[in-house]
Amino acid sequence: MARRRIIAGNWKMNMTPSEAVELVNTLKPLVDNADVDVVYCVPAIDIVPVVEAVKGTNVAVGAENFYIEDKGAFTGEISAPMLLDAGVKYVIIGHSERRDYFKEDDAFLNKKVLKAFASGLTPILCCGESKEQRENGVTIDWIRLQIKSDLVGVTAEQVASMVIAYEPIWAIGTGLTATSDQAQEVCKAIRDLIAELYGTDTAEAVRIQYGGSMNAGNAAELLSKPDIDGGLIGGAALKPDFGKIVNA
Ligand code: 13P
Repeated sequence: MARRRIIAGNWKMNMTPSEAVELVNTLKPLVDNADVDVVYCVPAIDIVPVVEAVKGTNVAVGAENFYIEDKGAFTGEISAPMLLDAGVKYVIIGHSERRDYFKEDDAFLNKKVLKAFASGLTPILCCGESKEQRENGVTIDWIRLQIKSDLVGVTAEQVASMVIAYEPIWAIGTGLTATSDQAQEVCKAIRDLIAELYGTDTAEAVRIQYGGSMNAGNAAELLSKPDIDGGLIGGAALKPDFGKIVNA
C-alpha cells in the first residue's frame, strides 16, 4: 500500500492575518496537486482567515500549538475544541523550538499527543537530534527515546493515522540540510521502531516527514527516499518555492 505524500508548511511566528491570506492566495495555483496532502500550519491568530481562504482547495489547515485542557482558567492558551470548531485538522507537537524555548518535555508532549487523538486532531509529532548528539553517535538512540516516550498509551490505529516529522535541530533554519542518506537512515529507524512497537502494518501506514532547510532545490532528492513520505517546511513554506516542493 503506497503512502500518500504529505507536504506541510510550518509558518512559525510569521505572517499577520492579512499577510497570511495574501500568501494563501499567492500559493493557491502553485500547490494544486490532487496526489499530495498539503497542510498549512499557521499561527493561532491566522487560523480563522486561513481556513476561510483555503475553502474549495486541496489545502488543510494545522495549528502550531494547543493546550491539553478543553477549557478553563489557562490564560493565553487555545484548546483542541477551539481548533476543531475553527476547521483545523492537524497540530504540530514536539517541535524543537517548543521543546527548547518553552520547555515542553516528553511527559507533557505525550499528554498532548493523547489529547490530540482524543479530540480528533491529527498530530504531526516532531523529533530530532542536536549537532552534539549527532557528533556523539547517539542520534538513533535519542530519536527512539523521544518517540517511545511521546507515544505512551497511543494505539496502533492512532499511530497509523498520524504523521511523524524527523527534524534534525542543526538543520532547522540554518541552510544545512541533512543529506538524503542521513535523513533516510533516521526515517527508516523511526519506521523500524514503530514496527517493533506496533507491528509492520502500522509501520507501513504511518507517514514520516523530513524537515530542516528543505527547499525547492533539495526536495526531490529527499522525497525520492523510500521512508521519507513528505516534508515539514519552515522558511521555504512562506514563498512560491513551496509550490515546487509540493510538486517535487
Ligand atoms: P526550516 O525549513 O526553516 O529549516 O524549518 C524547518 C522546521 O522547523 C519546520 O518545522
